[in-house]
Amino acid sequence: MGSILTLASAKGGAGKTTTTIVVAANLVAKGYRVCVVDSDRNQSFVSWHDNAYEGAPITTVSEVDHIRVVDIAGEQAESHDIVLVDTAGFENLTAASAIGMADFVLIPCMPDRGSVRETLRTAQQVASLSKAARRAIPYSVLLTRWKAKGLAERAALDSLTDASLPIIGQSLSDLSEYAKLSFSGAVPVTGKVGEQASSIIAELASKGAIPTKGTMSHSEDNGVAA
Ligand SMILES: Nc1ncnc2c1ncn2[C@@H]1O[C@H](COP(=O)(O)OP(=O)(O)O)[C@@H](O)[C@H]1O
Ligand SMILES: [Mg+2]
Repeated sequence: MGSILTLASAKGGAGKTTTTIVVAANLVAKGYRVCVVDSDRNQSFVSWHDNAYEGAPITTVSEVDHIRVVDIAGEQAESHDIVLVDTAGFENLTAASAIGMADFVLIPCMPDRGSVRETLRTAQQVASLSKAARRAIPYSVLLTRWKAKGLAERAALDSLTDASLPIIGQSLSDLSEYAKLSFSGAVPVTGKVGEQASSIIAELASKGAIPTKGTMSHSEDNGVAA
């Protein structure tokens, strides 16, 4: 069984789809079998994939129904190493289902007050769904559009650490390359973007959120270097 990684934040424009694009394309480039389930009615990921994407194959499935999304993601996990579930940027049942079934939840957060507020709320939602499911659903915050020395970044980080939220060590920098991705189909797997994606993937693997070479049954012949 592959892992299910859900990208969630009640905030629209927090970086969920950008993170999904960068992580999915870099996982595929490393030899992982990757499926993305787009559960956002806007279908940002699917339309980018179908109209622009130029890299190695990523299976894409569109499913916005909150009941069917659970079956679809579960089925895809049987034939992929990792299933990424991109969700909509408002509180909705489909995102709750995708959080409820996830092996790991990634909550992207940009350096502004609204984004931090919605990150805290989404973290509370994950905790609440953990209680409802009577199992721990692990999660981390991913800082996106982040400037290393920005004032807003410092204030945002203070709020997140005050609330003791787990944060991925590698952030997605504020780079025009990320902003360009919604138009461009070539996702960098080298340079700054590739390095940041690789660090995030390595950290997720160290947390058990995605499989590493040793835990993948077909790993000998697909060149995965995790
Ligand atoms: N690291 C980044 N650097 C620059 N722009 C970014 C970055 N991450 C996201 N963006 C831009 O921010 C906007 C919202 O990102 P998106 O991934 O669509 O958020 P969501 O899926 O959460 O609604 C998009 O225009 C995207 O290009
Ligand atoms: Mg989106």
